[in-house]
Amino acid sequence: MKTYLVTGGAGFIGSNFVHYILKKYSDVRIVNLDNLTYAGNLENLKQIENNPNYIFIQGDICDSELVGKVFKEYNIDYVVNFAAESHVDRSIVNPEIFAQTNVLGTVNLLNCAKNSWEVESGFKEGVKFLQVSTDEVYGSLGEAGYFVETTPIDSHSPYSASKAGSDLMVKAYFDTFKMPMNITRCSNNYGPYQFPEKLIPLLINNCLKHADLPVYGDGLNIRDWLYVVDHCKAIDMVLTKGTTGEVYNIGGHNEKANIEIVKGIISYLNENVDKEITKALIVYVEDRKGHDRRYAIDPSKIKDELGWYPETTFEVGIKNTIQWYLDNDKWMKNVTSGEYQKYYKKMYEGVKTL
Ligand code: NAD
Ligand code: DAU
Repeated sequence: MKTYLVTGGAGFIGSNFVHYILKKYSDVRIVNLDNLTYAGNLENLKQIENNPNYIFIQGDICDSELVGKVFKEYNIDYVVNFAAESHVDRSIVNPEIFAQTNVLGTVNLLNCAKNSWEVESGFKEGVKFLQVSTDEVYGSLGEAGYFVETTPIDSHSPYSASKAGSDLMVKAYFDTFKMPMNITRCSNNYGPYQFPEKLIPLLINNCLKHADLPVYGDGLNIRDWLYVVDHCKAIDMVLTKGTTGEVYNIGGHNEKANIEIVKGIISYLNENVDKEITKALIVYVEDRKGHDRRYAIDPSKIKDELGWYPETTFEVGIKNTIQWYLDNDKWMKNVTSGEYQKYYKKMYEGVKTL
């Protein structure tokens, strides 16, 4: 029986991963370590909170005493590190917490894993540290080309710089100590439980409230969208079958300009939910500082080596996602009350329109 330490398991991708693993395997144990920032939400895990193979610990990945204890008490085999500050716009306003959590938190996890896993001959059999990273570490593409695993790191935002820093620390633990690890670099995820500071859930929420739909710059920046469950499937494959020490890019060749996403969500909701949701809600606003123009992943390595492929097309995935938010309006109401209102005011009200 493998014991996973999943960090940040109460966030968007982490909670989807916990559900995915507990559905797929009956002989695993998951310890979820999450300090429940604004982005962590135990409602995401309500269905499995009484599962005997699941343990939740509220705590910070930067806390060396606590993380050391978790390794000792639960005899951890796998670390899957999702815990992070994950929003680019917040990193532009407050970079320090990104360095703290994303870089120093990862170093603390690496240290505790090394202390727990090191034996005289090297490392215990069957252990692995998987760092969940992002295509943003590669920087920005022009109109052509793709990110491959050997694309040089060229991060621009404080968020992506902090993810690049943590990736390099994970690589250093492999290069220096031979600690078993993989790094995955995935493109933009969408799906259930995503916090509505990110483009897709923000648009759905605003549409349903007939509020402005803020589009940064000319709306032509391109992101490569992947349904979150396909990301979880890829992480599972890398963890169990990936070659130790390797980086794997994850993406489904699904590039879309932001404005296409905006118009697609409007027309779906307009046809299926509410005739009053119209393009008139779109407001072009001042661009994000240092806004990367285009991301696009070449997933050949994970496809060829591990046989991964995305199962959910964008057409199906976006309908599932919109439907999930429609069915879970209470979830949306809970996460957008309180602090979110202040955040939204600060980030969007009074912003220059174009
Ligand atoms: P999220 O913001 O939804 O969740 C982050 C989780 O980490 C939250 O539950 C939060 O409470 C927890 N956390 C934050 N600081 C912590 C700390 N110090 N100690 C313990 N827990 C802490 O993020 P997400 O979108 O689910 O992203 C998860 C990971 O995947 C991140 O590392 C991110 O960089 C990476 N990633 C995200 C995407 C995407 O499109 N969202 C794509 C590629 C990679
Ligand atoms: O590429 C992977 C990354 O994708 C992850 O590493 C990050 O954690 C995740 O947040 C995401 O980063 P992005 O910055 O690409 O995602 P976001 O949803 O914030 O923005 C998507 C695009 O939409 C981006 O070009 C900015 C634009 N945008 C975003 C918001 C929130 C708008 O035009 N208006 C908005 O209000």
